[in-house]
Amino acid sequence: MALLPILRYPDPRLHKVAKPVQVVDDRIRTLVRDMAETMYDAPGVGLAATQVDVHERVVVIDVSEDSNDLRVLINPEIIWKSEETQVYEEGCLSVPGIYDEVQRAARIRVRTLDEQGETREFDAEGLLAVCVQHELDHLMGKVFVEYLSPLKQNRIKTRLRKQEREALKV
Ligand code: NI
Repeated sequence: MALLPILRYPDPRLHKVAKPVQVVDDRIRTLVRDMAETMYDAPGVGLAATQVDVHERVVVIDVSEDSNDLRVLINPEIIWKSEETQVYEEGCLSVPGIYDEVQRAARIRVRTLDEQGETREFDAEGLLAVCVQHELDHLMGKVFVEYLSPLKQNRIKTRLRKQEREALKV
């Protein structure tokens, strides 16, 4: 097991589009374990492979209160979205310290492979629906701040670059 370094916005590698996983093998299962460990350590409720600079369609999510309900999504697709939307204040391990409201579908249906390469489908609402949509955006190279106004995005970039410079000084 290993903790993986998490890319920080505005790192251009966060905008790469992930490729589908060809074979769910031990290499992928090791990646999944390392991603889960990294997510729990952060701590966070979701992590996409893109955020650890692996550009394949792999996501880990755990929105449970006790961090004991890990969901592994390999090649996930949203196969249905409700017209109804919900607004949630989102954050992201790649955009530390920034939280803002994003509007997304309130309910979704997801089709995915699990760690054994078996096809699964599930319905999601509430925080899980938010999290799945947020992580699938990462796989498409999209970070949640891109839903915000250009002015806000520039402020966030400036703030995170400043934090990075200050971190380098110590
Ligand atoms: Ni994120």
